Amino acid sequence: LFLGIDVGTGGTRAVAIDETGRVVAAATAEHEPFASPQTGWAEQHPEDWWRATQQAVRAVLAKGVSADRIASVGFSGQMHGSVLLDERGEVIRPALIWCDQRTDAQCRAITQRIGAERLIELVCNPALTGFTLPKLLWVREVEPDQWRRVRSILLPKDFVRFRLTGERASDVADSSGTLLFDVKNRRWSSEMLAAFEIPETLLPRVFESPEVTGQISAAGAAATGLREGTPVVAGAGDQAAGAVGIGIVEAGTVSATIGTSGVVFAATDRPALDPKGRVHTFCHAIPGRWHVMGVTQGAGLSLRWFRDRFGAGPDDGRDPYERLTEEAAQAPPGADGVLWAPYLMGERTPHLDPHARAALVGLAANHTRAHIIRAILEGVAFSLRDTFEIFREMRVPVERVRLGGGGARSQLWRQIQADIYGYEVETVEAEEGAAYGAAILAGVGVGAWPSVDAACKAVVRVASRTSPDEQTAQVMDRQYAAFRALYPALRSVVS
Ligand code: XUL
Repeated sequence: LFLGIDVGTGGTRAVAIDETGRVVAAATAEHEPFASPQTGWAEQHPEDWWRATQQAVRAVLAKGVSADRIASVGFSGQMHGSVLLDERGEVIRPALIWCDQRTDAQCRAITQRIGAERLIELVCNPALTGFTLPKLLWVREVEPDQWRRVRSILLPKDFVRFRLTGERASDVADSSGTLLFDVKNRRWSSEMLAAFEIPETLLPRVFESPEVTGQISAAGAAATGLREGTPVVAGAGDQAAGAVGIGIVEAGTVSATIGTSGVVFAATDRPALDPKGRVHTFCHAIPGRWHVMGVTQGAGLSLRWFRDRFGAGPDDGRDPYERLTEEAAQAPPGADGVLWAPYLMGERTPHLDPHARAALVGLAANHTRAHIIRAILEGVAFSLRDTFEIFREMRVPVERVRLGGGGARSQLWRQIQADIYGYEVETVEAEEGAAYGAAILAGVGVGAWPSVDAACKAVVRVASRTSPDEQTAQVMDRQYAAFRALYPALRSVVS
């Protein structure tokens, strides 16, 4: 068996799969919600991820999976977070996580120092508040005493690896999101490190995703119940691992995943660059391949926010999201003109604006909750369509589209996505996403499959296909034009 561990934002999930790709056991342990001490700030304590990892792994083992049967372990995790360790390997301060938006000034300073074009040449991406380097600079400027104690910088899942193996290691896909990584050449960028005076000794050694980086240590085994000496592979950031989990490995395959954030992700044979920097160009979890992706910050978060603030309707024992999407189905496509701009946490693609704010517009007296929920589902898909439009400009091939995350579970949201993207959309059988991808990488690392491509061919199976409805797609095209006009209009009223 192969164990995948995904250190997400909401929780850590552990999934054990066999050589046919069957999920043998899975368990999730929730995290503390991220702290937001000021607007736009987002912090989590790495020790909480480690606590959740121990719980999730123990829960999988308690489901009749003997640790001796686990041939290897792979990781996936939320990207970009800044885990800072002192000389004893202890956490110095909570990590600033991927959706933290406090580093606008640091991003401007980075761009000024290196130059916008040179930045794209060096690391394939612009300076964005979500990425790791600006977070490091913030700590260095605002908390110099803490910064002085830093001896090691790790990404979230790599901290969990460090606790499990005692080794400091990372992978090319996750490292791509630090702004310190030479994405084209798949190694740390010596020019960026020198420019920002970050000694390479603070950073982990970087491996290709299916490579073995170490073994479970005695301490890691004691904490989790895993067997000492079990090989551990590098794994990948959650987006690349999630793509592997649903078979987005060859150029032409594209996924649209709606979790807390929403991501449209394409595998490519070489780094595909957007000169405007609206999409991220990162290494893929497959040696010799890259990926390009657009990110909507507040995708699933939009629906969750609605549920938390206004409820999911009368409790009939069913999942709240099922009740919400059923309610949304009472409103017609286009939600009678109601539009949702999903910028609850600022926005990355295409606006690159941490100060963007969400808006619900077009309301009339006859509109109901159903219109609003439907507008939210549509607004999230419109925002993801922005990335498809950018891919078209960049000539990134789109031959097949697969859905992932919570957005793939609802028939209504699948149809909305097909109608808005204008492509047939598929779902796959194993809905485990990133943890499943991490387990596949673990298997490839110990030779269960000869390559990631071969593994995906063997284990990823299509479960459903949804085609766009031609008439509805036309309504959606008109509504999308209105959606596109929203952000520029909003900019003059909110900031
Ligand atoms: C990717 C990103 C998010 C986080 C969330 O760039 O920021 O997908 O990894 O888990």
